[in-house]
Amino acid sequence: MVNIEQIASEALAKIDGADISALEVLRLEYLGKSGVLTQILKSLSQYSTEEKKVFGSMANKAKSDIEKAIENKKENLKKAALDEKMLKEKLDPSPAFYFPFSKGSLHPILQTIDGICCVFKSLGFSVAEGPEIETDWYNFEALNIPKDHPARDAQDTFYLEGMNNLLRTHTSPGQIHVMEKQVPPVKVIVPGRVYRNEASDASHSSTFHQIEGLAVGENITFADLKNVLAQFVHKFFGNDLDIRFRPSYFQFTEPSAEVDIQCFFCKGKGCRVCKNSGWIETLGCGMVHPNVLKAVNYDAEKYSGYAFGIGVERVAMLKYGIDDIRLFYENDLRFLKQF
Ligand code: PHE
Repeated sequence: MVNIEQIASEALAKIDGADISALEVLRLEYLGKSGVLTQILKSLSQYSTEEKKVFGSMANKAKSDIEKAIENKKENLKKAALDEKMLKEKLDPSPAFYFPFSKGSLHPILQTIDGICCVFKSLGFSVAEGPEIETDWYNFEALNIPKDHPARDAQDTFYLEGMNNLLRTHTSPGQIHVMEKQVPPVKVIVPGRVYRNEASDASHSSTFHQIEGLAVGENITFADLKNVLAQFVHKFFGNDLDIRFRPSYFQFTEPSAEVDIQCFFCKGKGCRVCKNSGWIETLGCGMVHPNVLKAVNYDAEKYSGYAFGIGVERVAMLKYGIDDIRLFYENDLRFLKQF
């Protein structure tokens, strides 16, 4: 009698090393119609009952072991082929895979807006936005600037068809939008792009950016305004810079002030950037005028508040030592790559 165990172990070893086409050949060689094991099983009839029992069960076991081994191997080969395919065809979703360009960065004006907003958020302000196309009411009237009032001359305006719509000249209309939607207490900043009908030069542009600040509630005083602006300057520019308040005039605040920051470059000694004054004018502010509170149906007896408007380009020029505002809008990569 042939050695069934040996045949089986040889077969298993061959199966282990086979590829998918060799597997089929092995299947036929052992289990096919004239395969080795089929022949053995057929030949059992010539043996005694006792021998049939022993060889029969050995041959059947060998047959099922080989069948199982072939199935397992087939599965493993299929899985390995799939893994290899996946690896080869793997999609890299990172942008670098699709774009052979170097990574960009945020524009210095956006970086400055982010930086300023970040400081005010840490002081408890939330952030809101308003539309760039405004009506006369939001940009002027609700801010206590009636039609035909000379104060309108201070802001050369791009009017749109019909004169009732315009490109906002400041972010102050954001104050009105916020207060219309919210009851006091309010503590919000409104960053955004604004437009003035003026010729551009080293320090003027017809399009620029502001960040409006507004806090309204009970017992809010000028001291709160001074505190919050001093904190902003120290957190944003550094602890060693002084600020000063100069009396000023805005229709929508009373009293009003302009805030100068000690010159960043010469620390107050006087230089070209601060025109030898040692100070740089950075923002307008004041206590919200009662007429503005009335325009949004706030109780002007009960509530008070402060507002301020920061010129973003001004702050960015100071922070980065830039002496021409036009550089921000030219999209010259030699300039932009420095940020
Ligand atoms: N809106 C004013 C401007 O553009 C600045 C300002 C804002 C002043 C808030 C006072 C209060 O000049």
